[in-house]
Amino acid sequence: MLKIAVLVSGSGSNLQAIIDNIESGYLNCSIEAVISDKKGVYGIERAKSKDIKTYILDRKQLGSGISGEILRILDGKVDLIVLAGFLSILQGELLQVFKDKIINIHPSLIPSFCGGGMYGIKVHEKAIEYGVKVSGCSVHFVDEGTDSGPIIIQKVVDVCSTDSAKDLQLRVLEQEHIALPEAIKLISEEAIKIEGRKVLAIGKVE
Ligand code: GRF
Repeated sequence: MLKIAVLVSGSGSNLQAIIDNIESGYLNCSIEAVISDKKGVYGIERAKSKDIKTYILDRKQLGSGISGEILRILDGKVDLIVLAGFLSILQGELLQVFKDKIINIHPSLIPSFCGGGMYGIKVHEKAIEYGVKVSGCSVHFVDEGTDSGPIIIQKVVDVCSTDSAKDLQLRVLEQEHIALPEAIKLISEEAIKIEGRKVLAIGKVE
């Protein structure tokens, strides 16, 4: 069974989607830890209500030391780290020890509307301002850059002319709740491999 840690900074609805998919039997994995970089977030309450071990690592206090703390907690304990709305940037030894073992969900079709400073509602404001006709979400492996690692799954949603950023955010979030469990399942079943920038299905010609 795949052992995972889920890192959150907010409401944790993506964490909830993972929990629900474990409970339904879709995912064969166990959540060993939930880590937040902020106090008082609802994601931690969701974890506690399921008796999952939780850790608060205050990013204001720890600054760039947060990656070292995450490594100290998770080294040797989990197979995969899932960033589910986690806002701190990971760096250093953590990325080496967990090379190709950290994934992130981003609420746009990468490489649009991603990178430094692109998070939360801002992503959707920019998409609407630009006038794109579709947006969506991307699950990708984490490397040294921001939102720059190989893409595992993308889901597309239509952008309507009457959409507010909030409307688009909600429509994309629904797809995030599908995409993130799907990506975890592919990894847990060892169904994908990374070749350069590409994530390929093992044994399938794409
Ligand atoms: C999601 O849109 C995620 O993609 C983004 O932050 C939001 C977090 O949602 N990076 P939640 O905390 O999982 O509800």
